[in-house]
Amino acid sequence: MTQFARITLPLLLAAGLTLACNDKSKSASASSSSAAAQPATGAATVTAADAKKYFTQKCEVCHGTTGKGDGVGAASLEPKPRAFGDDAWQASVTDEHIEKVIVGGGAAVGKSPVMPPAPDLKKNEAMLKELVKYIRSFKH
Ligand code: HEC
Repeated sequence: MTQFARITLPLLLAAGLTLACNDKSKSASASSSSAAAQPATGAATVTAADAKKYFTQKCEVCHGTTGKGDGVGAASLEPKPRAFGDDAWQASVTDEHIEKVIVGGGAAVGKSPVMPPAPDLKKNEAMLKELVKYIRSFKH
């Protein structure tokens, strides 16, 4: 990979995530009438499929489709994104730890800040719990 790509790819990823976050906060502050028009997105009805979709949109770029840590953005990252199929890792972390790293990012648990925080999930515990289940599902 060229030096250019090495430097710009993480920056582009970060910019994309920032934009995604902004979009989220805008839609979260949308009027209640439009929220009522989309009952399927309500926090109380978060399903495994919703968590999978969230993962595809926010996590897959680094962690990969099958959670192997081989997403398209992973090549330029150091350290490498966690491979969720690693059973020794699965056994070494609690669900609470996984929730904390998802919301606060790597820095919140003494890991690399390359793992970005998802503060939008702080208020969406149902999605957080489903995401933890999804990450656990990669266990062998
Ligand atoms: C920009 C790339 C990137 C994105 C996007 C990303 N991660 Fe990560 N993630 C990483 C990296 C890199 C690590 C490894 C950090 C380390 O080992 O210091 C990591 C580690 C983790 C870990 C393991 C933490 C630990 O204590 O071992 C979990 C769990 C995790 N990510 C979940 C997620 C979830 C869920 C999402 C989506 C909401 C996500 N990540 C999005 C890069 C990313």
